[in-house]
Amino acid sequence: MAVDLLLGLQWGDEGKGKIVDVLTSKYNIIARFQGGPNAGHTLVFNGMKHVLHTIPSGIFHEDAINLVGNGVVIDPVIFKKELDKLAEQHVDYKKSLYISRKAHIILPTHRLLDAASETAKGKAKIGSTLKGIGPTYMDKTGRNGIRVGDLELADWKEKYRALANKHEAMINFYNVEIQYDLKELENEFFEAVKVLKSLKLIDSEEYIFQAQKDGKTILAEGAQGSLLDIDFGTYPFVTSSNTTAAGACTGLGVAPNKIGDVFGIFKAYTTRVGSGPFPTELFDKDGETMAKVGHEFGATTGRPRRCGWLDLVALKYACQVNGVTQLMMMKADVLSGFKTLKVCTAYKYKGETITHLPYNIEPENVEPIYTDFKGWAADLTEMSEASQMPDELNAYIAFLEKELETPITIVSVGPDRKQTIFR
Ligand code: GDP
Ligand code: IMO
Ligand code: MG
Repeated sequence: MAVDLLLGLQWGDEGKGKIVDVLTSKYNIIARFQGGPNAGHTLVFNGMKHVLHTIPSGIFHEDAINLVGNGVVIDPVIFKKELDKLAEQHVDYKKSLYISRKAHIILPTHRLLDAASETAKGKAKIGSTLKGIGPTYMDKTGRNGIRVGDLELADWKEKYRALANKHEAMINFYNVEIQYDLKELENEFFEAVKVLKSLKLIDSEEYIFQAQKDGKTILAEGAQGSLLDIDFGTYPFVTSSNTTAAGACTGLGVAPNKIGDVFGIFKAYTTRVGSGPFPTELFDKDGETMAKVGHEFGATTGRPRRCGWLDLVALKYACQVNGVTQLMMMKADVLSGFKTLKVCTAYKYKGETITHLPYNIEPENVEPIYTDFKGWAADLTEMSEASQMPDELNAYIAFLEKELETPITIVSVGPDRKQTIFR
């Protein structure tokens, strides 16, 4: 069986967690392939809200296996907290959660390095989630990292000490004010490592290979969004992994010719948290309304998300890079009540009109060109059938499908599992 992918097409927080949860009943295995606790995936069902950071969003379905793939970076401390929350919900994760031995470990000093690097950058900071993501992937590509499989070796603590010492020297090199008590952080870390080691650690690429051979259905769950991709995103204001479709191949060990459907998720408007260019960003009442109605605060850091109109130029780019086969439009309900909706269909760039994403999308280089759409007044949150959707929403969707040459198969009209319209 081919492996289906689900990934965000914007700057993250598109609603990936919700849709993975909705789709899990169709899959045997849900597998995260990149990122780490910088992610915050929100699921809402039975009147409860759950936020997952490293654990795949299929974990609440008893029959699904949830795999943390080799491309993911794991902070044992945050991981343990997630497990504790699952235990409160009586989720039997010992049975359903598998972890790749090749996934890399975020050390306490990686987090400190992230903070030191951001402080040293001052105004030019990335706006990272301060979870140690950049430094951990740097150690991975620098071939210095510690992997889950290392924790099973007798001498891993020596390797740990050497790396932590090096990190401390690097933190001093930054010469910035960072307060920390490493002993305390390490106590918490070593306790959490014990919990991590008690879970089912596997050679996940072999597991995925056999599962495919056995006809099991697999959904790979992306984190972040395509515009945060280390290669194709708005560098350097990006994360440190490949968030696009190719990341699923390297982050799970799935061959490119074994990828099936690619589900691309986008909000009916655009948000971004952290620094970096955002051509359609709004600084007016419309932006405030989106933030307020959409409760646009980060699920991991609580920071307010910047809001703006849908950017079709960027969305088209993301569809191309990922080979999206089906689109899913989220938070359509948030746009109810706007008299006019705008979609950016081109950029003014160096005196020319262009419809592709150029190298540099800083505000001084690009000016969005908008197409207006009539808004709808109806509340969508109680709708469950496509036939109930207002004409104006249908016109908005039809335009996007035509421009993106891809069908929109799900329209999400609220945070709850049930608030999902299949088309
Ligand atoms: P993810 O990182 O892509 O999983 O997305 P987040 O969980 O960080 O952010 C999405 C937010 O929007 C969460 O608070 C969700 O509960 C919420 N959400 C998801 N879909 C919808 C929707 O269709 N309408 C509304 N109003 N909220 C939604
Ligand atoms: P989910 O999976 C939104 C952003 C940060 C920052 C940049 C780099 O919930 O969609 P990092 O900590 O990765 O070094 O931060 O990337 N960022 C996200 N923004 N959603 C996310 O994940 C994000 N993960 C990282 O805000 O701008
Ligand atoms: Mg999120």
